Amino acid sequence: MRLKLFIHCATLLLGLAMPCQALADGIIMPGMEWLDTQSRPINAHGGGVMYHDGVYYWYGERKSDFTYRSPGVGWDCYRTEAGGVSCYSSRDLCNWTFEGIVLEPDTVDTHSDIHPTMVIERPKVIYNDATGKFVMWMHIDNHNYGKAMAGVAVSDSPTGKFRFLEAIHPNEQISRDMTLFKDDDNKAYLIYSSEDNATLHIALLSSDYLKPTQVYTRNFPNQFREAPALFKRHGKYYLVTSGCTGWDPNEADLAIADNIMGPYTSLGNPCRGDDADKTFYGQSTFVIPIAGTDQYVMMFDRWNKHDLISSRYIWLPIEFDHDTPSIPWRNMWSPSSMLNAQCTIHNDNPTAKTTF
Ligand code: GAL
Repeated sequence: MRLKLFIHCATLLLGLAMPCQALADGIIMPGMEWLDTQSRPINAHGGGVMYHDGVYYWYGERKSDFTYRSPGVGWDCYRTEAGGVSCYSSRDLCNWTFEGIVLEPDTVDTHSDIHPTMVIERPKVIYNDATGKFVMWMHIDNHNYGKAMAGVAVSDSPTGKFRFLEAIHPNEQISRDMTLFKDDDNKAYLIYSSEDNATLHIALLSSDYLKPTQVYTRNFPNQFREAPALFKRHGKYYLVTSGCTGWDPNEADLAIADNIMGPYTSLGNPCRGDDADKTFYGQSTFVIPIAGTDQYVMMFDRWNKHDLISSRYIWLPIEFDHDTPSIPWRNMWSPSSMLNAQCTIHNDNPTAKTTF
């Protein structure tokens, strides 16, 4: 992570620039400004990461420069013009190369669901092995979040361009904060805050991942959970969610299930350390499975509602005590040991691709 290297390194190592570069290149500093490989701040909020052919792709909301409060809306409705979805690629989870705006907003058709006056949030991408397509789902909304829809886009390549297909109400239900999950059997699921955010729905997608099926479950009824992030480990499903307080932080919850569709049982707040009751001033967005291992990285956003483009990223490794996960705060950490574990596994299989 190329993070204001000079300042940080000067403090740590009394101005020895070269060793600092090496140190800083391999570390993640949660909550600090994170620069891409062209030294520009990464602009990929509410994001998710897809691993494909040895590369991690980070997709996220591209916030525009100017944050304003939506006129005529009673609540704390801060927003920027929707800038589409950006994509960054990396092999080490630290150094991210900007791949471009892979879903462009439609600046021409003022009625388009992806016009800049709309909301495009929480994009997630999965690969469909049968169709060979990359499928993106996202939260689509209007300026006051009254439309509450799920949008879908498709591409032949992980770096786009994605073609926007439609925005829908899955099973005639409203849909706001959402995530995607592709299971080991290649079935995929859309997980979204529904019933005016009161209940979290989990819907099985069609085999091409482009439509919801009518198979869905209602989870955490009337508990107002949002910002879902789901992962699977040793056959169990884990679902991290936030409470429902807009851009402001609240306490996270982690729930466990034997079946993707639930029922989910809460294990409580997984965060540990200072400000754990406020999710370290962050909000969940995704859990990255480290390919070829049973290790995971939790992605949170630390929103700056008055200047949304300056919102920061909090990425932390998830720790496990048998099947119980926890997320302790760290000022800095290195994903290299996780990635090395992957190499070890790959070395056991000489025909597999070595990815790092
Ligand atoms: C949060 C949600 C964010 C964004 C925000 C708008 O609850 O998690 O993704 O939609 O509300 O206020």
